Amino acid sequence: MPEPIRVVITGAAGQIAYSLIYLIGNGDVFGKDQPLILSLLDIPPMMDVLNGVVMEIYDCALPLVREVIPTADPAVAFKDVEAAFLVGAMPRKQGMERKDLLSANVKIFKAQGEALDKFAKKTVQVLVVGNPANTNALICSKYAPSIPRENFSAMTRLDQNRAQSQIAVRLNVPVDKVKNVIIWGNHSSTQFPDARHAIVESGGTVSAESAIKDNTWLTTEFVKTVQTRGAAVIAARKMSSAMSAAKAAGDHMRDIWLGTPSGQHVSMGVISDGSYGAPKDVIFSFPVTIQNRKWTIVKDLPINDFARNMLDATGKELEEERQEALAVCEN
Ligand SMILES: NC(=O)c1ccc[n+]([C@@H]2O[C@H](COP(=O)([O-])OP(=O)(O)OC[C@H]3O[C@@H](n4cnc5c(N)ncnc54)[C@H](O)[C@@H]3O)[C@@H](O)[C@H]2O)c1
Repeated sequence: MPEPIRVVITGAAGQIAYSLIYLIGNGDVFGKDQPLILSLLDIPPMMDVLNGVVMEIYDCALPLVREVIPTADPAVAFKDVEAAFLVGAMPRKQGMERKDLLSANVKIFKAQGEALDKFAKKTVQVLVVGNPANTNALICSKYAPSIPRENFSAMTRLDQNRAQSQIAVRLNVPVDKVKNVIIWGNHSSTQFPDARHAIVESGGTVSAESAIKDNTWLTTEFVKTVQTRGAAVIAARKMSSAMSAAKAAGDHMRDIWLGTPSGQHVSMGVISDGSYGAPKDVIFSFPVTIQNRKWTIVKDLPINDFARNMLDATGKELEEERQEALAVCEN
């Protein structure tokens, strides 16, 4: 068995973490033979709740979990970590403007960037889940200059899983038969869920477009359903997506850790090099392949006029968020 790795989960007393910790502890993310030290960070008022979560981790009797460290101190939580799930953030409260949420959360990610810079392994892989995820990841990376920018990514995997699932249900095929659906841009309602490059393996391999035979659905209802799925879950459950968000975070980190299967790409928010005309130096969701824990943006996919407009709109929003976030951090 390899040596245990230290994995930190922030927002560890919250609802996403409640599902995510089990997935990680069960070996679904880092592999069934990788022992783990789980470092769990939350804020001081949540320590009693967090201790209850720790009791449950022990009660799950997970053989890979060698140690659990609950704490409210980032210096303890980030010490020597090799993987970080940054889930903890302030939820949007009634009457709160998007701008107020951004400024509250960006400050959390600035502080956690500084803590990662000081205490984490330089090879740490950082996945940002807390919203606004793309801009939080950008700020976190900016304040952790000793860690490569490529090691920070933002989660759009939940959007990808939602999109993949919409297509699978429409075609009545198992969800793993649908591959290479892309989420472009921001994890927000401006994201572009794009099925034009997706394939369906059912008998042979065909494009999702030719299997669905309804371009209007693909450019209207499909896009809207995925863009607004988070709000639909909140309306129904009175709480935001948690089980599915945890599953997506596990999928995202597993692909970073173990790589993507050949012929397949996945979507994640990564630092933009301007590919596909996206603005540079924002965290933009692109299709990527991953080998040896390094991602590469899939190049040269054709972009039609519809896609161009969608990419431009989400890119513009990310530039605006970056400007607001930098103003907050520099104050
Ligand atoms: N990227 C995505 O696809 C996606 C999907 C779903 C939810 N989210 C986001 O994930 C975040 C967490 O969601 P949740 O449902 O688990 O929320 P939650 O409110 O149940 O839990 C959040 C936890 O974070 C903690 N926290 C707050 N500030 C902290 C800090 N500075 N350090 C450590 N912990 C801190 C809170 O005390 C709380 O326990 C939210 O921002 C939500 O919007 C993202």
